[in-house]
Amino acid sequence: MLAERIVTAALHALNKRYLHQAPIELDRLPEPIPGRSYVLYAHVPFCERLCLYCGFNRFLYREDRARHYFRRLRREMRMVSELGYDFPSLYIGGGTPTILLDELCETIDLARDLFSIEEVSTETNPNHLGSDTLDALSGRVQRLSIGVQSFEDTLLRQMDRYEKYGSGSEILERIQAVAERKLFPSLNVDMIFNFPSQTEEVLRRDIALLKETGANQTTFYPLLASPKTRARLAKTVGRMDYAREERYFHIIAEGLADEFHPSAAWSYSRDGEGMIDEYIVDYGEYVGIGSGALSFLKNRIYVNTFSLKEYSERLDSGRMSVSKAGPPYSRRAMHRYRFVTDLFGLRLDKERFARDFGVSAEIGLAPELAFMKLAGGIASDDGRYVTLTEKGRYLLMVMMRETLASSNDLRDQARNALSDEERMLLIEGIDPSGADESLAPNTAAG
Ligand SMILES: C[S@@+](CC[C@H](N)C(=O)[O-])C[C@H]1O[C@@H](n2cnc3c(N)ncnc32)[C@H](O)[C@@H]1O
Ligand code: SF4
Repeated sequence: MLAERIVTAALHALNKRYLHQAPIELDRLPEPIPGRSYVLYAHVPFCERLCLYCGFNRFLYREDRARHYFRRLRREMRMVSELGYDFPSLYIGGGTPTILLDELCETIDLARDLFSIEEVSTETNPNHLGSDTLDALSGRVQRLSIGVQSFEDTLLRQMDRYEKYGSGSEILERIQAVAERKLFPSLNVDMIFNFPSQTEEVLRRDIALLKETGANQTTFYPLLASPKTRARLAKTVGRMDYAREERYFHIIAEGLADEFHPSAAWSYSRDGEGMIDEYIVDYGEYVGIGSGALSFLKNRIYVNTFSLKEYSERLDSGRMSVSKAGPPYSRRAMHRYRFVTDLFGLRLDKERFARDFGVSAEIGLAPELAFMKLAGGIASDDGRYVTLTEKGRYLLMVMMRETLASSNDLRDQARNALSDEERMLLIEGIDPSGADESLAPNTAAG
């Protein structure tokens, strides 16, 4: 517990400094540095139903609005290409990227035309696993990630997912059918643990059913809840209990160990299968396109506008959606960033650290390595690589949880700055028809 508190406090301070930036006006991202590798992230912020706990940038789906958005997304992709970027990997996240299949396919096809894409990963929901979707994605997508969260109907109802995305048994059957067709080299299932009403028994059942899906990868996210969401959960399903998070983490690690091995601090891959992991350690730098996406380039975080209206306006006036940049990371902060990103992917490459920073990991990361050692987090150090124990993986999970929580705070702030009109789209059950003209469909080609 003490180690976890130290990590939480340290990451809070670091994230606060570098994520909560003073707005500086930007029209585009910087150009790429020759010889560097980058990943492209594209955000599709629409969902048919807005889950109670979710802090990501997402709006209630309406077809005209989403079509309009996809066209601008492709325009932004072209602008990234014109800046000189190339990418071997495209990750499409949401929201629900598969919400408009024809637009998604056109976007993937454009990415393959513009860049040397080898792998495409996309997120989806269990109600989008029909044969039309699967046939269209097969060959285009190498990694399909399905959001399940839990197979327990009570939890799914409390998360407000049951009605739209199906019951636990329906979801299980649908994923089994996808896995049997072997359409995707990597089939991932996203789960959430430590939801207030998730008992140990429910968690064990979720792990057992996850193994039955046939998926070859899984990610167990610890529930992240903003103060507002925590208050809402406390009133309805119960208080969040962070004290049991570590215990649940170990239950997951042990429950999966006979069929899966850890592939990142919170992801597991089925034994004996080579696949694309969600977390690609070799690329510390990424370009984010789409409303609310982040980029990390050289030593800065760049943030795209969270407003759909502004997104549209910026793209229509020839600007990219990036609207803010954080202060440059200091040398120490870059060392720490490497420490967290490498170890989140389960090993710290000391040779690469020394090559990139001109100082050995023992010197550049002395406090971090000493802390991990003391906390019982280091499994081995053979001179080239440092690897983690299960405890170490848990501590890295805490670090990533804090980083994501900071991004969610940033999204909360951005949401507060949205117009009343757009804020309505964040609330389930309100029909936002009659919206602003600038959000209406535009016939201009993407
Ligand atoms: C942002 S969603 C996008 C894909 C899709 N809409 C879905 O629901 O899976 C990706 C995953 O993030 C995770 N997630 C979303 N909100 C979360 C939260 N508050 N805490 C932990 N994980 C969360 C869920 O496991 C979800 O499947
Ligand atoms: S968890 Fe997925 S489906 Fe639910 S609101 Fe978030 S992005 Fe949308």
